[in-house]
Amino acid sequence: MCGIVGYVGPQSALDVVLEGLRRLEYRGYDSAGVAVLADGGTATAKKAGKLANLEKVLADSPLPESTTGIGHTRWATHGGPTDRNAHPHLSVDGKVAVIHNGIIENFAALRAECEATGVEFASETDTEVAAHLLAKQYAETPQGPGRLAEAMRAVSRRLEGAFTLVASHADEPDTLVASRRNSPLVVGVGDGEYFLGSDVAAFIAHTREARELGQDQVVEIDRRRGLTVTDFGGTVVEPTAYTVDWDAEAAEKGGHDWFMLKEIAEQPQAVADTLLGRLGDDGQLVLDEVRLSDQELRDIDKVFVVSCGTSYHAGLIAKYAIEHWTRIPVEVEVASEFRYRDPVLDRSTLVVVISQSGETMDTLMALRHAKDQKARVLAICNVNGSTIPRESDAVLYTHAGPEVAVASTKSFLAQIVACYLVGLVLAQVRGMKYADEVAAIVEDLRRLPDAVSQVLTRMEPVRELGRSLADADTILFLGRHVGFPVALEGALKLKELAYIHAEGFAAGELKHGPIALIDRGTPVVVIVPSPRSRGSVHGKVVSNIQEVRARGARTIVIAEEGDDDVLPYADHVIRVPRTPTLLAPIVTTVPLQVLACEIADTRGYDVDQPRNLAKSVTVE
Ligand code: M6R
Repeated sequence: MCGIVGYVGPQSALDVVLEGLRRLEYRGYDSAGVAVLADGGTATAKKAGKLANLEKVLADSPLPESTTGIGHTRWATHGGPTDRNAHPHLSVDGKVAVIHNGIIENFAALRAECEATGVEFASETDTEVAAHLLAKQYAETPQGPGRLAEAMRAVSRRLEGAFTLVASHADEPDTLVASRRNSPLVVGVGDGEYFLGSDVAAFIAHTREARELGQDQVVEIDRRRGLTVTDFGGTVVEPTAYTVDWDAEAAEKGGHDWFMLKEIAEQPQAVADTLLGRLGDDGQLVLDEVRLSDQELRDIDKVFVVSCGTSYHAGLIAKYAIEHWTRIPVEVEVASEFRYRDPVLDRSTLVVVISQSGETMDTLMALRHAKDQKARVLAICNVNGSTIPRESDAVLYTHAGPEVAVASTKSFLAQIVACYLVGLVLAQVRGMKYADEVAAIVEDLRRLPDAVSQVLTRMEPVRELGRSLADADTILFLGRHVGFPVALEGALKLKELAYIHAEGFAAGELKHGPIALIDRGTPVVVIVPSPRSRGSVHGKVVSNIQEVRARGARTIVIAEEGDDDVLPYADHVIRVPRTPTLLAPIVTTVPLQVLACEIADTRGYDVDQPRNLAKSVTVE
């Protein structure tokens, strides 16, 4: 949610900043803007719409050469996506430039305070108050090194809400300062140059050396003085250093038309990498960071899985596996509801938070609520060093690599694998499964990358089907057992990419109301469980296909190889390899991703950057 880039060093700041913005555009694309410090002043350009619009503006009216600059891509919260509301925002004298990610919750009071002193606001944003407050505070701060950082600390102490702020001052042309609370910020350290970014993609083309900024900290990057980090009170702190384990190429499209297609194609690797090194020589499963003892894990008597969007769907799948393997009750809840209903939590509750980005505000707040109630928190996350894993008691990273397309694909599959591993760890620690039983399931997991590869080789008919569905008004998705969350995910993918009304249902629920939606030709995608599934769930789903077909539906069936029971009732069959029931979502999800992508592409939409969305949602 909003991409932030800052640069201080010998290169052309504008080039570095624009390149960073290109890589961060997935975070928000309502407008974009830049500011550079040159000739004793601040030169800015900003434009509503995608970054390409700003680039056109810059081509017509170039900014002066500079070695210090900031840039922003916006996902609008306060004030519409207009030129005026695009960042950077300037102080009245034009000397301070500010970019911001987050929401300053007390901005109305601060705005009134500024207006009372005669400040006229140029935008409707909450951000602009920071520019005016900073200019005032700077004027009141004694001259000397670190003056802008000191002013930033004073302003930050007054702000409520979530913010990453980056600011420059025309009188300090070699300096940038940034402040963070509840919003992400990383620093890149190059050779005589420094970078600021909402995430490492902002500077990965230049350096892999990064510093993680903690909560309520301010950083100054200065060409001569280097890097200084303090807390909001001014006490110097040593930031955590780390080396980014992927390179710039990982964040390129690599010959694919869309990042999403590349990321779909990377899924076998994402699944394999998430499993890699997780099974120790003694058959014991290994988590990345566990600040919980085996005894604490043994004491757990209830699990909550809390997450949003696609990550929530991974949680729904986790429930089936964790309950089956551990017999511990599991509740799954969307993070935005969790803390507001006062869930029953205590020391023996494990809250598993799942987040690709590690910075989703709803999930972060749920995590903090769980910790306040003394629950143990385990994070499943794709972005190293992000806030959610940092604040959790235990972490399992999904090694899916950078996911740029707004629609989650490879991170979803990796999250499901990670959830299976959590289930197996719990089962093992609690003595519900012997090491050899766990190893047998891990062997099944190890076959998944090949199974996903097989699915991917058969996607041409799915693309063709997608093209034929591009004019549909409604597409419904049905599934039972673990197929139900897959149906929800298929519907979400289609909504977010193709803007088609889509809904996922538990197949058995259909007859209780939603079946009324079925009209002649309504496409209905059915995820059919394996004929080897427990109970008669397979037969029930085959009956559900017949029910919708009898009412005129066009049935699209995802079924295991060799399952011929579906043939009489399927208008289209998409085959997936035979896979153990609990693991089947790893293969059945893939055609749904491809289908949504193809439909969106056929309708002429931007698959990677769907309207109104942003990759990581850092506001509640
Ligand atoms: O980064 P997170 O996994 O916490 O993000 C959660 C959701 O915002 C995310 O899964 C969203 O639903 C995706 N756009 C779905 O494709």
